[in-house]
Amino acid sequence: MAFRVRNPNLLSLILLSLLAIASAKVFFEERFDDGWDKRWVKSDWKRDESLAGEWNYTSGKWHGDANDKGIQTSEDYRFYAISAEFPEFSNKDNILVFQFSVKHEQKLDCGGGYMKLLSGDVDQKKFGGETPYSIMFGPDICGYSTKKVHAILTYNNTNHLIKKEVPCETDQLTHVYTFIIRPDATYSILIDNVEKQTGSLYSDWSLLPPKKIKDPEAKKPADWDDKEYIPDPEDKKPEGYDDIAKEITDPDATKPQDWDDEEDGEWVAPTIPNPEYKGPWEPKKIKNPNYKGKWKAPLIDNPDFKDDPELYVFPKLKYVGIELWQVKSGTLFDNVLITDDPEYAKQVAEETWGKNKEVEKAAFEEAEKKREEEEAKNDPVDSDVEDEDEDKSDDADDSDAEADLDKKDAEEDDKHDEL
Ligand SMILES: *[C@@H]1O[C@H](CO)[C@@H](O)[C@H](O)[C@H]1NC(C)=O
Ligand SMILES: *[C@@H]1O[C@H](CO)[C@@H](O)[C@H](O)[C@H]1NC(C)=O
Repeated sequence: MAFRVRNPNLLSLILLSLLAIASAKVFFEERFDDGWDKRWVKSDWKRDESLAGEWNYTSGKWHGDANDKGIQTSEDYRFYAISAEFPEFSNKDNILVFQFSVKHEQKLDCGGGYMKLLSGDVDQKKFGGETPYSIMFGPDICGYSTKKVHAILTYNNTNHLIKKEVPCETDQLTHVYTFIIRPDATYSILIDNVEKQTGSLYSDWSLLPPKKIKDPEAKKPADWDDKEYIPDPEDKKPEGYDDIAKEITDPDATKPQDWDDEEDGEWVAPTIPNPEYKGPWEPKKIKNPNYKGKWKAPLIDNPDFKDDPELYVFPKLKYVGIELWQVKSGTLFDNVLITDDPEYAKQVAEETWGKNKEVEKAAFEEAEKKREEEEAKNDPVDSDVEDEDEDKSDDADDSDAEADLDKKDAEEDDKHDEL
């Protein structure tokens, strides 16, 4: 088909965008094609304790393309640690894009789906939960309370969690997570090529002490009027106001027929609250004409703040890894990308997740339908009740693991407390 460009601007736009993509630096790209297992090193972490989980090289139970495989956690109650090396680089003066896709086929109720970037020299055979990392990024789900995207930056040997909530996807389909850090110290977090959070490394993490603090010397001036409302000096108590009784005798009460004054004593009508009574008089409130607003200490430059123009820089990035604990396995990672070009990352996401998502969704719905039919067949009488029973016995099975998990949570909390 003949292709004529009528608009020369459009042509230059096309050329420009081709150029931009052509100049993208790709530091690492893994689509998990043949030979992936020569690029990735499985760690021996937790292997002595028989708690090191095995990876399954698969496209999963539902997918958009059976030939597009990734790596999936395949054993419950296991630790997972695997990493790959790439030529060391620094993101100084450059954009850093870290992207991957993840699918929780198991209906994840507690576990991570995040990845890490590591710097310097790492013994990949020993890579594990204690190995220092530079960036940790991706979804984390546990119970009802934790359903978020982690974005942890390590600065000055300390892990800093993002201070903003970024909800993660919780369904059983593939989603692409993208973390972009720019040389102007701004960042963006995308899910499925849609920006979910953006801002500054200065304000959304506590990497540095705050730039401004409240002046500790400042005091509220004695004549500062911070009362928004005052009693109206014009308002006067109406005459007779205090004479209104709080209670009155019930006008509807009548002496009972069988009341015997001699035996029962003199009949006294009961009292009821007086509808006219409005409580002690108070003048009505008016806006205070001298109100100056709530007093706030003025902000001053924080003497402890020292700017770091290289706040965003990770000078020795060299490894990408997955390090997880999973109660229920089934998390599938794919299409790991580290580049300096958000446009290229977007394009990769479209070519992989974007291309497959509709077929995958249909396959998932088909699988769900089959599963429900199977369940109904196994118990045609009342499958709902059966479902509940299953859930209960699951819970019982989980209790030990949950105790372990609580321990791990507590450890993580300790880790967080140290931050
Ligand atoms: C790997 O995944 C496939 C697809 O879900 C599944 O059929 C197979 O049983 C899995 N193998 C292991 C060892 O878990
Ligand atoms: C780095 O961490 C040390 C120890 O926690 C602290 O004393 C120092 O002030 C930190 N430096 C910066 C630049 O944050």
